[in-house]
Amino acid sequence: MYAGIDNERKQMSTLIQVMNVEKLYGNQEILKDASTVINSNQKIGVIGRNGAGKSTLFKIIIGEEDIDDGTVRIHPDTRIGYLEQHDPYTPEDTVLDFLQSYTQKESWECGKVAAQFQLYEKELEAKIKGLSGGYQMRVKLTAMLLKEPNILLLDEPTNFLDLSTLLLLEKFLRGYKGAFMIISHDREFLERTCTSTLDVEHRQLSMHALSLGKYLEFKQQQLEMNLKQNEQVEKKRQQLQQFVDRFGAKNTKATQARSKEKQISRLQTIEIKTPLRKVRINIPKVEPRKGPAIEIKDMTIGYPEKTVAKDISFTINHGEKIAIVGDNGQGKTTLLKTLVEDIPSLQGSFRFFAHMDIGYYAQHVLRKLNNELSIYEYLDSIAIENTPREKILQMAGSFLFRDDDLNKKISVLSGGEKARLCMAGLLLQKHNCLFLDEPSNHLDFETVEALADALRHFEGTVLFVSHNRAFARVVATGIVEVKQGEVRRYYGNYDNYLEDLERQIDGKPQDSAQEKELPKTSKPQKKQIDIHAHRALQKRLRKLEKQIADTEQQKKDLFQWFEDNPTIYDEEKTQHYQQVTEELDHLEEQWLEIQEELSS
Ligand SMILES: Nc1ncnc2c1ncn2[C@@H]1O[C@H](COP(=O)(O)OP(=O)(O)OP(=O)(O)O)[C@@H](O)[C@H]1O
Ligand SMILES: [Mg+2]
Repeated sequence: MYAGIDNERKQMSTLIQVMNVEKLYGNQEILKDASTVINSNQKIGVIGRNGAGKSTLFKIIIGEEDIDDGTVRIHPDTRIGYLEQHDPYTPEDTVLDFLQSYTQKESWECGKVAAQFQLYEKELEAKIKGLSGGYQMRVKLTAMLLKEPNILLLDEPTNFLDLSTLLLLEKFLRGYKGAFMIISHDREFLERTCTSTLDVEHRQLSMHALSLGKYLEFKQQQLEMNLKQNEQVEKKRQQLQQFVDRFGAKNTKATQARSKEKQISRLQTIEIKTPLRKVRINIPKVEPRKGPAIEIKDMTIGYPEKTVAKDISFTINHGEKIAIVGDNGQGKTTLLKTLVEDIPSLQGSFRFFAHMDIGYYAQHVLRKLNNELSIYEYLDSIAIENTPREKILQMAGSFLFRDDDLNKKISVLSGGEKARLCMAGLLLQKHNCLFLDEPSNHLDFETVEALADALRHFEGTVLFVSHNRAFARVVATGIVEVKQGEVRRYYGNYDNYLEDLERQIDGKPQDSAQEKELPKTSKPQKKQIDIHAHRALQKRLRKLEKQIADTEQQKKDLFQWFEDNPTIYDEEKTQHYQQVTEELDHLEEQWLEIQEELSS
């Protein structure tokens, strides 16, 4: 029995204690009387608005920032693993050399931990500089773990991660035995990895043994309950006051009136902190258009010494919101860069139809901000000419920059505050086509939601790269997949795509979006069911053959028209031809898959 209690104690010891901490930056109070305790088995998601003080809290814990008052106690057994924002390696190193020199561990130990992130012999021998961003992050995670920490501090680890690495990280964290604290604005990621939530709000820390979704529900209920209770208290106060007002002067009732006055003085309402301001983003209206917006034909992208993808052909129509998906290093950013003419295409061509005005948002915009400018000065300098001051203030307000904030210098802004500022600047330029490379990085939930909602209602065209699943799910009306030297439109919605990807991570064979509609034909089933499934497949095959014949005819007719009218350019027919071609490819692919299944 005693051993049991002992074990429990061992399992649950305090690692870090934060007591009544106060932290100031100039006049701005970041934390005040902030306290919390972090135990050895906790999996904590750290949430809070941009600029709330989350990164500051981590820096205080690892001793990089001083505090103005209070205490931070780190238990002697605590070994903190901090996922460094900067890269701890020289790019010329091979992965294994770096891991060994950084951690002083034997190569077999390095290999064992690295395997958790699917870094095997080939990757261990490769030079770090040749790895994609996702793989470099895997190397950093491996290095951190080799130092055998018992608590991990991860500050926005999901920024810049490709989905496969993200899913691997999720899987790893779900099986991790130690404690961790993760700052992230990705709700789904936190929901899937953490069981406690630390809310950084109103300059305080509040820890809850609830997963994020449950905590947010609880928070809402709590607020509603407090509001109700205050209403009741107020009602009671009014009743008592009425009695005092009516009978207070009467001698016969004086004693009762005095007692009621006492009761009034004892009534207490619960303090309700003013709710944080709501983010509401209005993208300036653009003229809606129809038909093709961007057409790409047989294009090859890459760099003089390296082709990234070739034979790219597809069309994007006005008003479409296209998510560009695929692992890091596969060429998503290269594709965007080629389309904004940052780099030339190697072969083939693309064109924008008339009246396209493109705005580009990417990570480098954040880095290039002039630190000396204030928020207002920056927005004023970037807005289209003659934008009235109130429009600038309105846009700044949508992104929660008001009053004193407007004079804040860019140099002191948090990651999320900088990202908001750049987005506000871009939207002030009134483009009708937006190319967004990881727009949700750094932004807090509320801002991401508001931005997703605004983009969905935007009448212009949007091409975006994002690993934030909640964001992509809301915004995307179409998907372009960049994978192994190919770029193609993916048929199926965003959820289908994610399911496919997760299956690959778990090592199960890929099941395309289309196959799911087919009857299941798994091996251990009874023969009767197999026959049933077989028939269903054959029926589907016949239906497909008919669809293919019809579509081929349509394509032929259209082609004939082009041959008969070589001098006329008909936008609608061109677009239709493109669609029919894609549809045909898609049908033929399905036909092949079913054929294969039937013959297996
Ligand atoms: N050196 C500094 N001088 C003045 N103000 C600062 C300094 N560093 C940070 N701040 C301010 O302190 C606040 C908290 O910053 P912090 O980086 O901790 O926020 P955060 O919660 O991590 O936000 P985000 O979600 O955007 O990363 C911000 O308003 C930021 O502008
Ligand atoms: Mg931060």
